Amino acid sequence: MNIIDIITKTKKTQPLSTEEMIWLVNSYTSGDIPDYQMSSWLMAVCLNGLTEEETVTLTLAMRDSGEKVDMSNIDRFTVDKHSTGGVGDKTSLIIGPAAAACGIAVPKMSGRGLGHTGGTIDKLESITGYRTEMELSEFFDIINKTGFSIISQTGSLCPADKKIYALRNSSGTVDSIPLICASIMSKKLALGSEGLVLDVKCGSGAFMKNCGDAHRLADIMERVGVSAGKKCRAVITDMDAPLGSCVGNALEVREAVEILRGEKKDKLYDTCIFLTANMLELAGKGSYDKCAEMAQKAISSGKALEIFQKTVELHGGDPRICDDTSLLPQPVFSHELRASRDVEILSVNSEEIGMASLLLGAGRISKEDQVDLSAGIEMHCAPGDKISMDAPLMTLHSSICSDFSEAAVRAMKAIRFRDI
Ligand code: URA
Repeated sequence: MNIIDIITKTKKTQPLSTEEMIWLVNSYTSGDIPDYQMSSWLMAVCLNGLTEEETVTLTLAMRDSGEKVDMSNIDRFTVDKHSTGGVGDKTSLIIGPAAAACGIAVPKMSGRGLGHTGGTIDKLESITGYRTEMELSEFFDIINKTGFSIISQTGSLCPADKKIYALRNSSGTVDSIPLICASIMSKKLALGSEGLVLDVKCGSGAFMKNCGDAHRLADIMERVGVSAGKKCRAVITDMDAPLGSCVGNALEVREAVEILRGEKKDKLYDTCIFLTANMLELAGKGSYDKCAEMAQKAISSGKALEIFQKTVELHGGDPRICDDTSLLPQPVFSHELRASRDVEILSVNSEEIGMASLLLGAGRISKEDQVDLSAGIEMHCAPGDKISMDAPLMTLHSSICSDFSEAAVRAMKAIRFRDI
């Protein structure tokens, strides 16, 4: 086999055989194929796509490039949830304990934020002492105690994806449905949960900006999951505006605690109930309506909060943040943006809010960047709201950046309004 033939086949939209796909993934991972040839193949995929069969083969070859996690020693039905990434998406911190409170186990391995999207591991690290890295035996132990745990993805899982994803980032080949599918699903399949709910985000802050692409990605990911033997369901949720009212790591943990305490019943709460109900239904806990009721009760009874608190403690984190969120990192500087006249908010572009938050220090442009855990944006307005002159639109927070001018311009650019 040789790489030129493989690039040529994909360029001419001729499907690769299983053997060719496995050879390609293994040869690139081992360093036998150089970056320039692999990026040429990736660009051919971006332009011509892959067949469903090729997408499955690519996913499985990437899954098989590293370690696989055996979850058979977890004593409940295991369901993982994966979001394709967004702004203000802290659902994992809420649905994990809520689903665990209803009797299933939620073992999650998550990543860090990059660009305008946040990462669950950064959010959890804003809890003093919380360990995101541990031996798998301890991870399983926590899950068997509380039903829920989130750790950082182990380095030995899917090395092929690690290498290919870095190359896609630097070769303009991220936005390809088969490549996104293979990247996400290889990692999810290597982590051997029995069920998987895929939350495909659609809108300005998501990879998939329109509904057609979101449906295509959801469809292929679900098919790949099912063909690999997982109970798998993909759902589509809105990412046009930021999810909830907080964007930034400690701010999002605070908001998750507020939801778990039953203090907020907004769009974030509804999205969490929807995702938890889908996880429970997939695990055979009953009809969707019954599962949604169970999820609501898990929060209103305080059981989900109790599980979250216990899990934080078992990870070495400060459990007192559940009673007193002021123990989370607090910003040194804050700046409020107010309406200059009476307006109605038409839309809030989540990508722009994510970028403004990044400028405040809440995210990273390259993998090596340090994150300011206290930084971010609190939104005081959402699409449809009527805001009077001088009322606050949002508050910007940071501990490393006292000059808010650039972030403020970016954040204001996110809001479309009309005078009333
Ligand atoms: N998340 C991933 O892990 N991979 C992609 O390609 C896109 C989002």
